Amino acid sequence: MKAVILAAGESKRMNSKLPKVLHKICGKEIINYVIDACKNAGIREIIIVLGHEFDLIKKNICEKNFDLDIKFVLQKERLGTGHAVMMAKDFFDDNENILVLYGDTPLINYLSIKKLIDMNSDNAVSLISSVAENPKGYGRILRRENNFLRIIEDRDCDKNQSLIKEINTGIYLFNGNLLKTALQMLSNNNAQGEYYLTDTIEIIKTLSDKVGIFCADNYKEFLGVNNKIELERANSLMREKINKKHMENGVTMINAREVYIDYDVKIGRDSVVYPNVFLEGKTEIGENCVIRENSRIVDAKIFDEVEINSSVILNSRIENDVKIGPFAYIRPGSEIGKKVKIGDFVEIKNSSIDEETKVAHLTYIGDAKVGKNVNFGCGTTIANYDGEKKFRTEIGDNVFIGCNSNLVAPVKIGDDVYIAAGSTITEDIEAKNFAIARARQVNKSNWQKKS
Ligand code: UD1
Ligand code: CA
Repeated sequence: MKAVILAAGESKRMNSKLPKVLHKICGKEIINYVIDACKNAGIREIIIVLGHEFDLIKKNICEKNFDLDIKFVLQKERLGTGHAVMMAKDFFDDNENILVLYGDTPLINYLSIKKLIDMNSDNAVSLISSVAENPKGYGRILRRENNFLRIIEDRDCDKNQSLIKEINTGIYLFNGNLLKTALQMLSNNNAQGEYYLTDTIEIIKTLSDKVGIFCADNYKEFLGVNNKIELERANSLMREKINKKHMENGVTMINAREVYIDYDVKIGRDSVVYPNVFLEGKTEIGENCVIRENSRIVDAKIFDEVEINSSVILNSRIENDVKIGPFAYIRPGSEIGKKVKIGDFVEIKNSSIDEETKVAHLTYIGDAKVGKNVNFGCGTTIANYDGEKKFRTEIGDNVFIGCNSNLVAPVKIGDDVYIAAGSTITEDIEAKNFAIARARQVNKSNWQKKS
């Protein structure tokens, strides 16, 4: 069996430069949710119909789906969903079943696709319907005495038809041969002047009479994203699902309505997540961590027993028992060792900091390798940039850096060094030395203002 996913639309209703199917829901593109649903239902061959922004969408899909056999076809003119499927028909083998889905329905559960496949048996076409509270915008299932008649699009509904709550979710399983025949018989005599895929069902019914409908319980799973309001709705439904999964896995949330976790994030048991926390990308958090309010963590690996308070962490690795924040900024490429303390208003960039080092307040560390058990005094700056190039700094173990010091890179500081407060260090310091690099204090006696 092959799947065809339609994603050639111009997405005018999104009012965006970015194609609709590349908009993200909890960190993952809409189209990639649809592809994953097919994959999890056991389908490996997928044909994707693209039009607008063909190359951009293709590139994004290819980067993330190495394991599937995906073909892309171009629909040059947007003449409707039926016309879009026509573009893919050369790939249909004889007597093959074809699953068709729309690329803008990211919340579909693969189990619904599996049910549709199981139910299909010898139907000429089967589809999933659902009963929606507010069916506006969706095609409606017209029935007579409970038997399927046809699908009528929202824009083509008369007053009575628009009251029907059974909607077309847009997931169909066709006998490929009958689909091809029906596509050739389509007309575009409707409100939008388009060739509707939905009309093929009625045609197939006249050809073979075997139409199966499975009415799924949860209509929210089939939400189509056509505008930014539906995008927000899909995001919040997905978020609810993700947060629920984490809580079932033993994560504690103070208020799950205000926690924003991307699709691929992992969190260990008994970690606590406070409100207004954003966990993004491929972030992994271990067990027994506390992530306090207003933190944003992107693509970071956080081990166990870590406490993060109102801080931003990007693409870095944080080992066990570390405390970060409030108001710290850990930038990409940083590695923070066990039991390190990073306090308030500290910025760390592309640096490694070894076990038990303390950077308690108001410090910038950039492009440095810092040893174990170092103490950074308040207001230390590593001057890593001379206006043209960046340089690295190395600091050994057990170093004590007095408050308000500057370390002008490149500079190497040995183990057990002590740097006096207010020093500007421009030369290397050997192990066990005391360095003082500031003007000696002069007290002038009997000084007073001339009157
Ligand atoms: C469609 C269905 C409707 C269903 C709803 C479910 C039709 C005519 N209508 O309506 O019955 O209830 O989805 O979400 O099928 N596309 C193309 N080429 C085209 C036109 C559309 O590839 O020429 C793609 C779009 O990119 C989109 C999908 O097909 O991903 C659906 O098109 P859209 O315009 O969103 O259809 P709806 O009005 O939502
Ligand atoms: Ca749609």
